[in-house]
Amino acid sequence: MHRDLHRPRKGGTTSAKRFEARSRFGPVQGRGQDNRMAPCNGADCADEAANLLLLDPGTKHVSFTNDCDRELLVFADPQKLLQIFINLYSNARDACEVNGKITTTARIKKNGRIEIMVEDDGIGIPDHELDRIFEPFFTTKGPGAGTGLGLALVFTMMEEMQGEIDVRSTSAPDHPTGTRFLLTLNEGRYNVA
Ligand SMILES: Nc1ncnc2c1ncn2[C@@H]1O[C@H](COP(=O)(O)OP(=O)(O)OP(=O)(O)O)[C@@H](O)[C@H]1O
Ligand SMILES: [Mg+2]
Repeated sequence: MHRDLHRPRKGGTTSAKRFEARSRFGPVQGRGQDNRMAPCNGADCADEAANLLLLDPGTKHVSFTNDCDRELLVFADPQKLLQIFINLYSNARDACEVNGKITTTARIKKNGRIEIMVEDDGIGIPDHELDRIFEPFFTTKGPGAGTGLGLALVFTMMEEMQGEIDVRSTSAPDHPTGTRFLLTLNEGRYNVA
């Protein structure tokens, strides 16, 4: 599937912005010890998050497609990974029209790490907002609709799991192109004695 998505311009998801997110909302000392890192199945985790969101009858209908390879394991804290999917999926649902599509895929990168992609066909994110979406309390949602903490938490949790998050999106009023979040984690392996 080919889409008109592009990397944010320099100054988009940059290290400067990441540094700011980290310094304003970084891990509290010792919090990393709460990590319960283990090999876990990203596809199952994604299913669980989608099923949880689908339980809420009060929200607009969107379809979740999970094309992740069922064999792929990531090295992660399953509770954090679930929370990450819930945050990304609920943002994606907010950004989509009724019957919008949210697709999750995964692949092994050349360097052996796993990349999970969460893609929606929603309204997209304009360049000037891409610079800010991981900042704590940055929200474009109305009062009472969003705290702006979702992606800041996602960012922090990814760091705590030695992972990375990146985003590709564009937005033009008459040409929404959707948004794609990329999560990179180490591969999960069971030690075979
Ligand atoms: N998939 C997406 N499509 C379009 N915009 C998005 C998407 N994901 C995030 N955003 C933008 O990033 C902003 C910040 O997201 P974040 O999850 O941190 O906060 P929020 O969703 O506004 O509030 P909260 O998650 O606390 O309820 C959103 O308000 C929205 O403008
Ligand atoms: Mg959110």
